[in-house]
Amino acid sequence: MRDLLITGADLAGEGPADLLIRDGRLADPADAGLDAERLDAAGLIALPGLVDLHTHLREPGREDAETHDSGTRAAARGGFTAVLAMANTVPVTDTAEAASHVAALGRRAGHAEVIPVGAVTKGLNGEELAELGLMARSAARVRVFSDDGHCVTDARLMRRALEYVRAFDGVIAQHAQDPRLAGAQACCHEGDISGRLGLPGWPAAAESTIVARDVQLAELTGSRVHVCHVSTAETVDVLRWAKARGVKITAEVAPHHLLLTTDEVMGYDPTYKVNPPLRPSEHVEALREALADGIIDAVATDHAPHARHDKEHAFAEAAPGMLGLETALAVVIETMVNTDRLSWYAVARRTSVVPAEIARLSGQGRPLEPGEPANITLVDPAARAVVDRNQSASLSRNNPWHGRELPDPVVATFWAGRPTYRRD
Ligand code: DOR
Ligand code: ZN
Repeated sequence: MRDLLITGADLAGEGPADLLIRDGRLADPADAGLDAERLDAAGLIALPGLVDLHTHLREPGREDAETHDSGTRAAARGGFTAVLAMANTVPVTDTAEAASHVAALGRRAGHAEVIPVGAVTKGLNGEELAELGLMARSAARVRVFSDDGHCVTDARLMRRALEYVRAFDGVIAQHAQDPRLAGAQACCHEGDISGRLGLPGWPAAAESTIVARDVQLAELTGSRVHVCHVSTAETVDVLRWAKARGVKITAEVAPHHLLLTTDEVMGYDPTYKVNPPLRPSEHVEALREALADGIIDAVATDHAPHARHDKEHAFAEAAPGMLGLETALAVVIETMVNTDRLSWYAVARRTSVVPAEIARLSGQGRPLEPGEPANITLVDPAARAVVDRNQSASLSRNNPWHGRELPDPVVATFWAGRPTYRRD
């Protein structure tokens, strides 16, 4: 492939510089030959390729909702060069073979690096540990384990999982939502909203009580816990306490929890049904603050495509989840950059560097320096557009941003030097 010289991009807000891509890596721009292809990036910002800790690709099993091809194309459009594929597929990613299969599907699709997340328990049943060690030692080198979609409610099992993964520096990513604190039908935030709508709700405490317990299990075992999609102010308080104690705990927030509130649910539109649910604005404010001050470490999409026939039901019966890959950076810019809460340097940390560290990925989230893999997202900080769900690369249409004007930042994405997305 010809060398590519990207000129004048602002490197994660640290000032303009040139980037030379040669054989999939960054090289010294002074070495660029006259025959190098050139891309004028003046006015653009270069971020290390984004890394999503929380993507639901529906392959294997539900290829009508998303495949590795459609999902990683959506990822590339959103500026991502790596996604961690959650284990709640059919079959569940709970064996070394299943993990290797997911990694192979990702390689075949080829629009972003796909790293399988292993299930914590067999079949996500919450009762018996999955083959954690075999998945870790397989070619797929699984380091992140999660029953996402389900909470590991059994404290003893959670403790054993934590002890197990410590040996290979793994992490348990917890979907912190205690079903025992809410009825099986819970489908929105418990509060004024659930009363007015006549829908059973999830109390905020169903999240924070699990996180408080897991903090103590992380301390007891000396192992790593990662909290998926933090959605409440109470959880932020627990995380602040845990970090002050030096517990090995990290946390992510999903873009939708940074901008959308329970107001969206008033029309009973199932597009806005998600687990954990949208919360009132005081929680949204607490999440923005926590992401700004680093109590929440990372942004992760919880991209959850659903086919029409699973989503278009009465609110109580519809499948929970919403699309997120293509709009994640837009929402981070709208809520965190345009409000002066995060610098571009901090955006790079929360969306790329830190997620790669949490997942122990060696070739992602690296500085944009010679010798490093050429994983780059070029961003126009000023562009805006109205989101159109029909323009999505995803096979699903459960897009909560449809019809809304948002930043439209991603100009190009390069994964290992290869353009996986270019706006024109
Ligand atoms: O809303 C959600 N949808 N939350 C989850 O944790 C799982 C996800 C899915 O798989 O659809
Ligand atoms: Zn989840």
